[in-house]
Amino acid sequence: MSWKTRILQPDTAVEQMKQKAALRALEEVRDGMKLGLGTGSTARYFVDGLGAQVGEGLSVVCVPTSEATRAQAESLNIPLASLDELQRLDLTVDGADELDAQLRLVKGGGGALLREKIVAAASDKMIVIADDTKLVATLGAFDLPVEVNIFSHGATAAAIGAALAATGNAGAMALRADKDAGAPFITDGGHYIYDCALGTINDAEALAQALLNVPGVVEHGLFLGYATAAVLAGTDGLQEMGQL
Ligand code: A5P
Repeated sequence: MSWKTRILQPDTAVEQMKQKAALRALEEVRDGMKLGLGTGSTARYFVDGLGAQVGEGLSVVCVPTSEATRAQAESLNIPLASLDELQRLDLTVDGADELDAQLRLVKGGGGALLREKIVAAASDKMIVIADDTKLVATLGAFDLPVEVNIFSHGATAAAIGAALAATGNAGAMALRADKDAGAPFITDGGHYIYDCALGTINDAEALAQALLNVPGVVEHGLFLGYATAAVLAGTDGLQEMGQL
């Protein structure tokens, strides 16, 4: 397999685990597939491996979930299209910040949750790739990202706080900062993100609906019912969940 000589060569154990999960998901890609390309340090290994296989003649067409992933895919000559053109995708492969045994996810640590969810919702299958520290008994240790319109975002934040409290999820909220810019972080869609420190998420389905009911909320990082499988890499090898 000469394509394997042209992929990234991670030099730490955790990066090698992420790449192993990504390459296992890559085995599920077939010629002619329409793919969603995730965002983050784990998805990056999937895109990298895909690019190497495209270089050997694999034919796929892909929708990136962020400008960062678009740039990586373009640098590898992976054919891209818009979701408007393709409408439905066969498979999306993406990372996660947390997942539980029911394949419910928290995503958005990298700020790409909106496009990630649009693409996941348009996909027949979604494989999550991660190191096994992302698997949790209860979601919520990772701060839940909520993407909001910039207009009167402070008032929107107050309404989010009320929605959290009403669903038994009270917690501190912080406007995400872009440390390099010394200003709020701005998503690819031009929005802000509030990170909600909940500790433990109570009734994820009710919380998801309550957040979407707040005017000004664009999307939140709870991905419920999207992932169909997961590949988790640990020191003992790969663990597969769901139907790959
Ligand atoms: C991007 O917004 C996120 O949803 C990422 O998919 C998630 O943060 C996982 O990223 P890592 O693979 O870098 O941990």
